[in-house]
Amino acid sequence: MSTTVGDLLRIKGSKVETITASETILEGIRRMNEKHIGCLAVVTQAGKLSGILSERDVLWKVIAEAKSPKTHLVKDAMTPLKQMKTVTPSQTVEECMELITGRRHRHLPVLEGGKLVGMVSIGDVVKFLLDAQQATIQSLEKYITGTF
Ligand SMILES: NC(=O)c1ccc[n+]([C@@H]2O[C@H](COP(=O)([O-])OP(=O)(O)OC[C@H]3O[C@@H](n4cnc5c(N)ncnc54)[C@H](O)[C@@H]3O)[C@@H](O)[C@H]2O)c1
Repeated sequence: MSTTVGDLLRIKGSKVETITASETILEGIRRMNEKHIGCLAVVTQAGKLSGILSERDVLWKVIAEAKSPKTHLVKDAMTPLKQMKTVTPSQTVEECMELITGRRHRHLPVLEGGKLVGMVSIGDVVKFLLDAQQATIQSLEKYITGTF
């Protein structure tokens, strides 16, 4: 049976680091730095997802344009919801990998009934699939050598 995003979140945790569109890019950079993450979910005052602010957004739309992170706002650089992909807890980790590699999305917010319930990154998916493959290899080795 395939592993789902919900299974991954149970291991990884479901806390999502967020920012609002009216905060500055500098605040966003500081928050990413403090949490050692490359992306923030952009939410409304009511906590509804409206997009993401990624390191790449900051690099391409702020730094490369010689704009000041102190004065420019998250809404000026964020990737809006309509330009990105989200997943639900019932989707599989393999489906996430397809979205990440096929559509070049590094982060996938997880929505359940429209509510933000997690964030999955390329690193999470790669680590999870590698661990699963490693476990399969080990059990096959044990089977072949008769040590199971
Ligand atoms: N050892 C692990 O468990 C693990 C897991 C993920 C990533 N990594 C490593 O971290 C580095 C960068 O990872 P990345 O490219 O996947 O992205 P990243 O640096 O944005 O993500 C790092 C971790 O933070 C989480 N994260 C990111 N944004 C979040 C947010 N807004 N709210 C809550 N959690 C958030 C991700 O899900 C991931 O678990 C890579 O070198 C990767 O291999 C390691």
